[in-house]
Amino acid sequence: MRQVSLVPFLTFALLALNAGHILSGAAEGEGKELKVWASAGSSAVLPCHLSPRKLWKSWKQLPDKTSVQWKRHGGSGHQDSHMVLEVGYSGLRKTALPMRPRVSVQDSALRNGNFSLRIDPVRSEDAGLYEARVAYNTEVQSCQVELGVITVTLSPPGPVVENEPLVLSCNSSHRASLVETCWFHNGRLVPTSRTSCSSHGALSLFRPAMSDAGSWRCQLRYSDNEIISATYNLQILGFDGPTNPVVYAAAGSAADLPCMLSHPPSAFGINMVTVHWSRLAGGYPQDWSVSQNCSSRSSPLPLPEVGLGDAGQYRCAVSVGSKTISTDVTLSVVTVTPSIQGPVSEGSHLLLLCSLTHSRGHERLQWKHLSSAPTNSRLAVATSHNLEGHWSQTAATLEIAQVSQKDVGIWECSVYGPEGRLGAVQYELQVTGAQVSSPPTIFSGQVTFGLTLTLFLVLMVCVLALALQKRRRPPAFPALEGMVAVTLPMKKEMEENQKEKVQQTEC
Ligand SMILES: *[C@@H]1O[C@H](CO)[C@@H](O)[C@H](O)[C@H]1NC(C)=O
Ligand SMILES: *[C@@H]1O[C@H](CO)[C@@H](O)[C@H](O)[C@H]1NC(C)=O
Ligand SMILES: *[C@@H]1O[C@H](CO)[C@@H](O)[C@H](O)[C@H]1NC(C)=O
Repeated sequence: MRQVSLVPFLTFALLALNAGHILSGAAEGEGKELKVWASAGSSAVLPCHLSPRKLWKSWKQLPDKTSVQWKRHGGSGHQDSHMVLEVGYSGLRKTALPMRPRVSVQDSALRNGNFSLRIDPVRSEDAGLYEARVAYNTEVQSCQVELGVITVTLSPPGPVVENEPLVLSCNSSHRASLVETCWFHNGRLVPTSRTSCSSHGALSLFRPAMSDAGSWRCQLRYSDNEIISATYNLQILGFDGPTNPVVYAAAGSAADLPCMLSHPPSAFGINMVTVHWSRLAGGYPQDWSVSQNCSSRSSPLPLPEVGLGDAGQYRCAVSVGSKTISTDVTLSVVTVTPSIQGPVSEGSHLLLLCSLTHSRGHERLQWKHLSSAPTNSRLAVATSHNLEGHWSQTAATLEIAQVSQKDVGIWECSVYGPEGRLGAVQYELQVTGAQVSSPPTIFSGQVTFGLTLTLFLVLMVCVLALALQKRRRPPAFPALEGMVAVTLPMKKEMEENQKEKVQQTEC
C-alpha cells in the first residue's frame, strides 16, 4: 500500500535530483537492495518485474507507453553511470558498446512486465550496481540490483592434462575480507592440506588423475558472514580405458594396439596433436608416428601380422601443445605348439600347448573344439587338469591320447580374464588315415586311391582265374566257392573307403 503511494514521490525525486543519484530500495522488496551472484563465464539474470497489479493498471491505460532503461553505476573506468540497454516505447532497442553482445531483455518484456536483464556470459569486470528505470504511462519504477561475480581461475591456463600439476583458485568481487575457502568435489568436501578449509583459497592438485575430473565447487566465507560459492567443471585430457592394458593376439593375426584419449582434442580447443608410438624393452627399438585427426580420440597402432618377436611393451605418447601424456600397452602373443609337426596320423598321441608371452596375472586359458560336440568329455578333462591353482595360467596343454577322425577340425584356445574373453588362437587338426599310412604327403588321398585300384585289379584277376578253373574242372573243391564269397564283401568295403577319401580331399 505504502509502496504504491511512494512511487509518484520517487519519480518526482528522480526528476529533481538527476539520474546520477542512486536510489535505494525503490523496487522489489522494501528498502532491500537485491544482490545477485554469478560466476564468471556463466549467465546472470538481474531481476526486475512490474507487479501484476501495476501491469494490469498499465494495460488498462496505454500499454504502448512503456519503456525500460538499464544503467550501470560506477564500474571500471566510469565514475558516472552509463547506459547498458534501452527499450523505447516503440520497442526499439539500444545497447551500449562494452556489453553489447552479452546483454538482453525478453522480447515480450513490455507486454509481460518482465524487464530482467540477462548477461551471458558474465565477466569479472561486470560486477557492480545496476539500475532499471521502467517508465509506464506517467509513472516510473526503479529496480536496483547488485551483481557480484565469482571467478574460478585455473593455472596454468589451457587444457588440463593427466599428471600435470594444477592450481584452482577462487575469488569474488565481495569487498569484505575472506575468512576461509572450502572445496567440494562432486558434492563431497575435499580436505586441502591438513584442514578441510584453508584461508588462502587455492586448491592444488599435484598429479591430477582422470578421477579428479568433474565438478569442483569453492565456498568462500567472508568476515561479514557472507557465503558465496561457484562451480567449475574440470575436464582432464587423459586416456580412456584401463591403465597399462594388455592386448592378446594370436600369432599370425593382425592386431591394433589401442591409444584412446578421454576426450577428442577438439573439445579442448586443441587443433594440433602429435601421436608417437615407440617400442619399449624387448626386441630392437622401433618408432612410429601416427598422424592424428583432432576430432577423433583414437590413434591405434596397427600391426598387420603379429609374430613372437612383436610381443612386449609399447608406448603411445600424445603431445598437446607443450605437454605430453603417455600410456603403455603390452602385446601378449598367444601361440599353439603341437607335439607333432604337420598332419597327424590317426591313433597317435597329440599334445597341443597353448601359451602366452605376457600375462597380467589373472588369465585363464581354455581349449574348445569348434566343430561338433563328440569330444567334449575329453576336453573337459584336459581343461580341468590344467586349471589347478587359482593363479594365472600362461600355458594350457590339450591332450588327445588317441587321435581319431572325430578330432578333425578347429581347436581354439581362448584367453579369459575377470572381464571376459580377451583373445584366442586357433589350430586346425588334420588327421591322415591309419597309422600304417604313407608318409605325410599332401596327395596322400591320391596314393590311397592308387593302392585300392591295384588291389581291386589283382582281385579281379583272381576271380577271373578261379572262374576259368571252375569252367575247366567241374566242382571238385567246394572250398574255393567259399573263397569267392568271402572276398566279395572285402571289395565292397574298399570301394566305400575310396569314396570317403575322395570326399575328404574335396573339403
Ligand atoms: C524474466 O526474463 C528472464 C530473461 O530475460 C528469464 O530468465 C526469467 O525466467 C524471466 N522471469 C519470469 C518470471 O518469466
Ligand atoms: C580475482 O581473480 C581475477 C583473476 O585472477 C582477477 O582478475 C580479479 O581482479 C580478482 N578479483 C579480486 C576481487 O581479487
Ligand atoms: C576426421 O574424422 C572425422 C570423423 O571421425 C571425419 O569426418 C573427417 O573426415 C576426418 N578428417 C581427416 C582429415 O581424416
